Amino acid sequence: MVDDILRTPGAVRDAERWTAHNYHPLPVVISSAEGAWLTDVDGKRYLDCLAGYSALNFGHRHPQLIAAAHAQLDRLTLTSRAFIHDQFADFCRELAELCGKDLVLPMNTGAEAVETGIKVARKWGYQVKGVPAGQANIVVAEGNFHGRTTTIVSFSTDEDARADFGPYTPGFTVVPYGDLDALTAAIDENTVAVLLEPIQGEQGVVVPPEGYLPGVRQVCTDRNVLFIADEIQSGLGRTGATFACDHEGVVPDMYLLGKALGGGIVPVSAVAANSDVLGVLKPGQHGSTFGGNPLACAVAIEVVRLLATGEFQRRSSELGERLRAGLEGLVGKGLVAVRVRGLWAGLDIDPTLMSGREACERLAARGVLAKDTHGSTIRLAPPLVISEEEIDLAVAQLAEVLAG
Ligand SMILES: Cc1ncc(COP(=O)(O)O)c(C=O)c1O
Repeated sequence: MVDDILRTPGAVRDAERWTAHNYHPLPVVISSAEGAWLTDVDGKRYLDCLAGYSALNFGHRHPQLIAAAHAQLDRLTLTSRAFIHDQFADFCRELAELCGKDLVLPMNTGAEAVETGIKVARKWGYQVKGVPAGQANIVVAEGNFHGRTTTIVSFSTDEDARADFGPYTPGFTVVPYGDLDALTAAIDENTVAVLLEPIQGEQGVVVPPEGYLPGVRQVCTDRNVLFIADEIQSGLGRTGATFACDHEGVVPDMYLLGKALGGGIVPVSAVAANSDVLGVLKPGQHGSTFGGNPLACAVAIEVVRLLATGEFQRRSSELGERLRAGLEGLVGKGLVAVRVRGLWAGLDIDPTLMSGREACERLAARGVLAKDTHGSTIRLAPPLVISEEEIDLAVAQLAEVLAG
């Protein structure tokens, strides 16, 4: 029987048996990868069109990143922040320069960067803006995805993410995404920050109307409110620019970064802001044992250097146009809408044809890995090292899946 020969079915069963079912992965079991390609335990190859939700912007095992990790593993892996190590200053300086900000605060996961941003904004509100104690408010958007902590899910509008995890953290006002009037109306004298994804990734690569982000920037400046851009998924080359905010010439007060910052090797996240904002934190008020560890910094320094060349932003922009052309050709042929920014695409499949899950399963059978998000939407986020031919291959396989 096939099951006796193939290792995948047993490996899928084992994984299901021994883990909490907080994910519903596609039934593929990967054992190695290089560049834009993955190989499973049975030797089948897949084109990676998810890239670890953008954590693998530079592809799997980019030689420069792997070399940095190896070299660092041989020297020093962890000190905690009780001491300073020799990779720390370079990482913070180079990332601060990439962001055009004074200071960087390193953490590990994206959710921790978001939590850090929230804490810093509240402290700034009390100490700098003069908000009365305990009254700080942050405006967020419907359809947001900022992570999984209890505070962050408190202002999620996705019931799957939120239900039964209360009691919820107060201090957040939710407004429709892309509606500047609603956002402006929600700001009051106790508002310390507006926290937004410049493009909502998890929601299906939802791009706000042109002029929205500059409008948010202006109202934040006018009302003495911090603009926090969660660029954890949209940033670091994904959209054809270093930051998604760059497309509209917008500079937020705080960048939240993660995912690709760790080069697909280690979790690295960071908050970048000027000293009038990040300077509110004093020793003992915030921290993380692993945040800014030597291995993380050594890898992330090389990530920043890769981005400083501009090559990945250019690839994403140019190849994104090819991806856009291919996907737009499928509108009316199984797709009802596509949204593309760089090498990042949200595709709405005609729900009468199949669900996003079904489409991803059929794509996987054809050697292309992608992941559905809500209902009939698929997100494509291939590594930025993908080639033109590989983009054409992904689009051709999708066309076959949609044609049934
Ligand atoms: C925009 C955004 N913010 C925050 C997060 C949370 O990051 P992590 O899963 O590393 O905690 C994600 C993860 O998908 C994200 O897309």
